[in-house]
Amino acid sequence: MIIAIDGPTASGKGTVAAGVAKHYGLKRLDTGALYRAVGLAVLDAGGDPADPAAGVAAAETLDLGAIDERRIRSSAAGLAASKVAAIPAVRAVLRKAQRAFAADPAGAVLDGRDIATVICPDAEVKLFVTADLKVRTERRLKELRGRGESIEFDALKAQIAERDERDMTRADSPLRQAPDAHLLDTTHLSIEASVEAACRIIDAALARPGT
Ligand code: C5P
Repeated sequence: MIIAIDGPTASGKGTVAAGVAKHYGLKRLDTGALYRAVGLAVLDAGGDPADPAAGVAAAETLDLGAIDERRIRSSAAGLAASKVAAIPAVRAVLRKAQRAFAADPAGAVLDGRDIATVICPDAEVKLFVTADLKVRTERRLKELRGRGESIEFDALKAQIAERDERDMTRADSPLRQAPDAHLLDTTHLSIEASVEAACRIIDAALARPGT
């Protein structure tokens, strides 16, 4: 069984994906981490994340087992990720890795921006997780400050809005809700309530005849 979860930055999709994977005993791929790792590798090499040659070189040499989980979570890595993610040749390289992960017969949960629309269009269940911009900024602010990064609310809100805009308007695999995806708005939900709501949606979808 493949569960595809998409949504904008800090919508809660990662938390929901982790909770759902645990609940159903499936492995999970946070596909944003791949784009973050590629963006960070370009920055580390002193390159421009908008440069296709630099992005492709970093994507092709990406070692999934060696991703620095702490460093890829910085706001700089997130911003660089959204720039390399707009380069079709980078997406083509990372698409292969994501599809290979999803091909495991044991099933999987994948979360990102184009999972239900491009990577796993035949997923058994699709979720589109969202929340309003103010709440998403508050969540990300808490996370970044918890990691010792000092950033102001307004600057972060503008940065998230910039990433949303770039993700939704790029030509290749833009962020959008698949027509057959279930909408989950986590604006007023706790982490536990978000995961419970997702599991209810998934159970209902799986119980429907023909699925
Ligand atoms: O989800 P996260 O914030 O970690 O993703 C970082 C960036 O990676 C996003 O802003 C987006 O530009 C890109 N991304 C993508 N497609 C995915 C996952 C992430 O374009 N499937």
